[in-house]
Amino acid sequence: MNNQVLYRKHRPKSFEEVVGQGHVVLPITNAIRMDKIAHAYLFSGPRGTGKTTIARLIAKAANCANLSKISEGNFVDKLSVRRPVRQSFSVGGSLGEGGLSIPCNSCDPCVQFNEGKSFDVIEIDAASNTGVDDMRELREAVRFVPAGGNKKTYIIDEVHMLSKGAFNALLKTLEEPPEHAIFVLATTELEKVPATIVSRTQHYEFRRPSMTDIVRRLKTVAELEKVALESQAAQTIAFVAEGSLRDAESILGKILAVENKKITEEEINETLGIPRRILLREMVTAAAAKDRKRLLELASELTAGGYDYSYAVKMLIQYFRNMLLLKIDPSFVELARQEMPEEDIAFIREQGGRFSDLRVKNALASLIDAMANFKKSPIPQLPLELALLEIVEEGKGNEQP
Ligand SMILES: Nc1ncnc2c1ncn2[C@@H]1O[C@H](COP(=O)(O)OP(=O)(O)O)[C@@H](O)[C@H]1O
Ligand SMILES: [Mg+2]
Ligand SMILES: [Zn+2]
Repeated sequence: MNNQVLYRKHRPKSFEEVVGQGHVVLPITNAIRMDKIAHAYLFSGPRGTGKTTIARLIAKAANCANLSKISEGNFVDKLSVRRPVRQSFSVGGSLGEGGLSIPCNSCDPCVQFNEGKSFDVIEIDAASNTGVDDMRELREAVRFVPAGGNKKTYIIDEVHMLSKGAFNALLKTLEEPPEHAIFVLATTELEKVPATIVSRTQHYEFRRPSMTDIVRRLKTVAELEKVALESQAAQTIAFVAEGSLRDAESILGKILAVENKKITEEEINETLGIPRRILLREMVTAAAAKDRKRLLELASELTAGGYDYSYAVKMLIQYFRNMLLLKIDPSFVELARQEMPEEDIAFIREQGGRFSDLRVKNALASLIDAMANFKKSPIPQLPLELALLEIVEEGKGNEQP
């Protein structure tokens, strides 16, 4: 199986499946339900967070024949998206069935849309249609009333890539939009979109989903693919994906290509070159003991194992950050649990007593420096080595009893 296939295959088919963007989903589904869809939306935010997904859902919902059946009570119940964590989450068949989802996914227009046969959604990639002529053409084209009086949705992706002339042409369209047209502009670089355009749209900023959101989504996709995904494995993928759901699903796809029954943390570590946790824990222990020789030995174990240094540093940052949080207040354990297994939490609690707060803060600062220095370093492991030595040294003068 191809890793690209996975995130396309499971692109959310209704709003209930979208995670982490409740502040977008709620007002938009409300507008849909009340038949008050705006003429122009602007979605900005990091890649892989659901901009295109929600744009397509708007296009589909705009022509769904069953929306009138959604009563308010059911509507609120269905929107489990808004309730964070702990919601038991049904996946697969139940989402699309029953005619209650938004959009319904069972009427003719919805089915056509899902089969990729709808003429009512037009996707334009502004990165390859940057010119004024492209936007003039669009301006002409949108005037035509679609057959059957349907709504037509124009999704303009990477809209910040348009030329000045093209923006002006687009602005004219947005100033006098035909009744049947909906525009959804999407961008990863909001600051490059002219204020005149922004002010003509309903603007939503997409957020990076939390680790919990990503883990929840990964579990949904794994369930749809009928594979068992260990919790810690899901957390590791979420950690690597850095807030992109698309990246998270791509990674899962990569792993599924080689393993398709049960996915463990070790498997993910091996595929992605992530060092084993035990190695990182040994580093923390050696740092606490100020054992510089051992630290350098452990660093060279990373090299020998072919592991990715930046993952090692990011994981050390996780350890020290959670250590600091737990030292400040034990209730932060809930946050730590979203990122690391119980045995690691017990470990940082125990090691926390060996580091002063100041030393932990200095360690974090050194590790962040190391992250920034990997690219410029002539010796790949050097930034990590320096950071490890600094964690030992900085403690010396500052150590509290
Ligand atoms: N908020 C989200 N909830 C659920 N899945 C998502 C979300 N954002 C992204 N995805 C997954 O990642 C894929 C790509 O997302 P997409 O909407 O194209 O991202 P963007 O347009 O913001 O770059 C989707 O097909 C879906 O599988
Ligand atoms: Mg997109
Ligand atoms: Zn429908």
